Order: sequence, then C-alpha cells, then structure tokens
Amino acid sequence: TGHLIGLKDMTKEQIVRLLDRSAYWANRPAEQAEVLRGRFVANLFFEASTRTRFSFEVAQKRLGAHVLNFIPETSSAVKGETVYDTIRTLEAMGVEAAVIRTKKEGLLQELAGSVDLRLINAGDGTNEHPTQCLLDLLTMKQQFGRLEGLTVAIIGDLRHSRVLGSHLHAMPKLGMNLLLSGPASMMPQPAQIPNGVKVVGIDEAIQTADVVMMLRVQLERHSESLYISKEEYHQAHGLTLERAKAMKPNAVIMHPAPVNRGVEIHTDLVESSTSLIQKQVTNGVAARMAVLETLLKGSELKWEPSLVTAN
Ligand code: CP
Repeated sequence: TGHLIGLKDMTKEQIVRLLDRSAYWANRPAEQAEVLRGRFVANLFFEASTRTRFSFEVAQKRLGAHVLNFIPETSSAVKGETVYDTIRTLEAMGVEAAVIRTKKEGLLQELAGSVDLRLINAGDGTNEHPTQCLLDLLTMKQQFGRLEGLTVAIIGDLRHSRVLGSHLHAMPKLGMNLLLSGPASMMPQPAQIPNGVKVVGIDEAIQTADVVMMLRVQLERHSESLYISKEEYHQAHGLTLERAKAMKPNAVIMHPAPVNRGVEIHTDLVESSTSLIQKQVTNGVAARMAVLETLLKGSELKWEPSLVTAN
C-alpha cells in the first residue's frame, strides 16, 4: 500500500522481509547510511511518547533524512486544523513520510487513500502499534533464532493495548503460540481473540511461555481508577519475584515500556539477566530504519519547487 498502517493488513512474507531488513540494521549499530539523504520526513505525535518518537528520529537521522518534528500544542492544530489538512500542508512542502501517533483508532486507515506521502503508524489509540510489534519480533528472533513454534504469554492490561492489537495479527501468521492472561476487567472482548489464541491464568502463562511479555496498566485509558492498590495488583496480576522463579530455564522477560515498576513487574526484574527490555529499545531503531527504508526506497521525489517548474 505504501503505508505502514498495521500488521492486520500485512502478509507473512511482508513481515518476514521487514524483520530480515531490521536484523540487517541491528547488526550494523554504528552505521550512518545515506539511503534517505536529502529526503524530508515528519514526526507527528498527538499522544505522549519517549522511545517511539526518539527511536524514529534516530532511525531517520541514521538514514540521512531531514527530520521535522511537529508539536501539536504549538501548531495550527490548536486552531482546529485537521490531521488531513496538516498532512496535505506537509506534502505541499515536499515532506515524503509522516510518522503519526494518535488517540484515534483507525485514523491512518481513514487517511491512507487520500494522501500522497507515506503514513507510518506510531500507535493509534488501542488499535495497533506495528513498529513495536516488529521490534518485539526481531528481539525474539535474535534470542531464540526462530519465531515459529515459540510460545509467548502477553499479560496485563490487554484491553487497552495496541501492542497486543498488532501481535494478535502477527503471531498467528508466523506460526507462534499466543497465551493471554490478565484481570477480567482488562481482557479484550472475546470477538477480538482469534481462534487458536488461548486465555489462561497468570501462573500457567508464566510457567509455559518462552517469552513472558508484561504490559503496563494504562490508567490514562481507564474510565475509572484502579479498583485495587498497586501492591494488590502486583501480587494478583503482576510478575513477582516468586512467579519469575517459575519461568522455564531459557524463558525471557519483555515489556514494551514505559514500565510501572512494582505494579505489573517487580522492579528487580526490569534490568535482570532474563530481561530483554533494554534490547527491545535498541532494536526499535533498527526496526524503524527498515520500515522507513522500505517505504521510501525507490519512491521518486514528487515535489518540485514551483520556481523550477514555472515556464
Ligand atoms: N513502547 C512505546 O511505545 O513507548 P513510548 O510510548 O515511550 O513511545
């Protein structure tokens, strides 16, 4: 399509190609490339972010692109300009790709047919977070040498997780086994859970999985405050030190972060030897380089200054 909207629309072959290219960049952590030299890309984050925003910017600069960062609060969005009109405005200046994070599920899908630049989803509400999914898969592939047949448990606030939203589509396509576990009030609607994905108790999930992926309780998306204390949540639904001891010998801990230390995961486990959380952040740069390169490679610069084309 020329855009990266979500894993839902991608074939297994497209996912594998992007992962192969992500691994290529992950193996060249110091390389400064010229792939996008002179090309303009913009980052539009309408929701808060640290790692996605900065790793996109690092990826863009590693590829040699000119990076524009759009700040909603000081832009004409505060005058009511829509995202569509904002994108068209950037296109008119020669910007070729827009990385967008938004509260609105499906916004990029809505825009996809009516804009010329490449859209890249950096998280749309509770729908999808495709580049997080890709960097997670890259991290697992590096760790285990394969994806097919791996058992991944995703645990916590599943209902509000766009990371889960992408993995629900990706993992079955790649022949991976997915276990889900979380408090009843934070489970996805049953219709959203594909056939073959199992819902299990937290202890079974942790003891069975090759990858224990904990998710943050996204209080900012809850309509009511948490019905139990953070400590009670940790004991009932979190990765405690005791539960971590019951993980399989070669199993690893992952978390998209930011982490609520002491809530969904014990603070001592965040940087433990079984944790790949920092590795995930590192891999975010490689995965985003692969996405940017794939979408922009071969596309011609459509924009020419009017001074050049006049007469
Ligand atoms: N994992 C992730 O998307 O983190 P940020 O919200 O900091 O970008």
